[in-house]
Amino acid sequence: MSNKPLNIGLVGGGKGAFIVNPHQKAIHMDGTRRVVAGALFPDATIALEEAANWAYPIKGYASYDEMIAANATLPDDEKIDYILIVTPNFVHFDPAMKAMKAGIAVFCEKPLCLNLEEADELVKTSKELGVPFAVAHTYLGHWTTRFSRYIVQSGLLGDVRWVDSYYIQGWLASKVEATGQQQASWRVDPKRAGGSGCGGDIGTHALMQLRYVTGLEITELSAQMETFVEGRMLDDHFTIYCKLCNGGKALVRASQICIGHKNDLGIDIAGSKGTLRWRQEDPERLTIHLPNQPDRVYWRGAVTPGDGFLPDDVPADLMAEPTIPAGHPEAFHDAFARLHRCFEADVRKWKAGEAFSSDGSKYATVDDGWMGLAFIETCIKSSAENGAWVAMPKQA
Ligand SMILES: NC(=O)c1ccc[n+]([C@@H]2O[C@H](COP(=O)([O-])OP(=O)(O)OC[C@H]3O[C@@H](n4cnc5c(N)ncnc54)[C@H](O)[C@@H]3O)[C@@H](O)[C@H]2O)c1
Repeated sequence: MSNKPLNIGLVGGGKGAFIVNPHQKAIHMDGTRRVVAGALFPDATIALEEAANWAYPIKGYASYDEMIAANATLPDDEKIDYILIVTPNFVHFDPAMKAMKAGIAVFCEKPLCLNLEEADELVKTSKELGVPFAVAHTYLGHWTTRFSRYIVQSGLLGDVRWVDSYYIQGWLASKVEATGQQQASWRVDPKRAGGSGCGGDIGTHALMQLRYVTGLEITELSAQMETFVEGRMLDDHFTIYCKLCNGGKALVRASQICIGHKNDLGIDIAGSKGTLRWRQEDPERLTIHLPNQPDRVYWRGAVTPGDGFLPDDVPADLMAEPTIPAGHPEAFHDAFARLHRCFEADVRKWKAGEAFSSDGSKYATVDDGWMGLAFIETCIKSSAENGAWVAMPKQA
């Protein structure tokens, strides 16, 4: 394949949409990817108007059906290389399926879809067709998250005993949806968000951090899904006690009613030799606590292997991840860019007919998306039985 930038088509993103903005900045960050097309809105006329008024030239389509059909038959080097799905959760499954069947790779927002049945279909189709598929679990893209994964999975903290993985917000502490606020209104509606509000929206991020950093899976869980704001149909507070596959325990918790908390995602991992702490609102560093020693603070870009805690052989590819010098802060957009960069590498291999790994080490995959839905459905079962322990399903 040539070194031409990859072409990306947007599904959603018009008229005051949120998450399309960081994505499209991240897409353009390396100059090797570009947004060329979009089906930006459910209404055809508005979709075309929004595309015509986009900040840079893109080809507008009246619907994602039209965009996918038009690209399915184009020569390979003119075709959209991947679509980015940035619609509410109920508009993930259909464009993802149609794109894969048209030979277009898929980068889809989380949660993967509305329910486990849809997730099963997406996993099956992506495997049968061998199409690259990423799920936008943003926070895996922080270098410090990748470094945390290395520290924990190489055993530097000993056995993982306890994990507290959390995502706490306060923006839904009152009935914001009653004001017509765009992002709130679909998030509290089961038909458009799925079976869980807060859990599906941000609990899935906390789950993904836990699974990615520790490499451990949840075997059983006991869930309390609560709704504090009167008249709301879905949970706005989500507390899940979990048994881990290594015998450890974890809390995966999320809330949207904690006034003052913004995007307070973080993870504390207590191992038999030490503890790791990381917070996304302060994402350039992580802290290691070892018994009877001063705390060690590791800053992205200023890590020295062989320092008495880290071994000499910290993987070269981790140390060499493209970035900027320490002290020039990386943040949310850089995390998205790292995910798109790694996905781009797989899409290029796929287009060249080469094997690509898509093993979940660089970005969340369709299997990770499936796990998010399995988790949510298990939580719903457990919470309906007042926190009874329920086993997590296994993928067929
Ligand atoms: N990864 C993250 O950190 C993160 C953060 C926020 C949101 N999200 C996810 O991103 C998705 C979008 O969230 P948002 O907050 O940006 O929502 P939003 O309401 O701001 O934007 C959704 C966009 O989709 C468009 N849309 C809806 N139906 C459509 C259709 N049939 N065809 C074309 N466009 C259509 C809307 O017009 C709008 O432009 C959700 O799945 C959400 O969970 C992820």
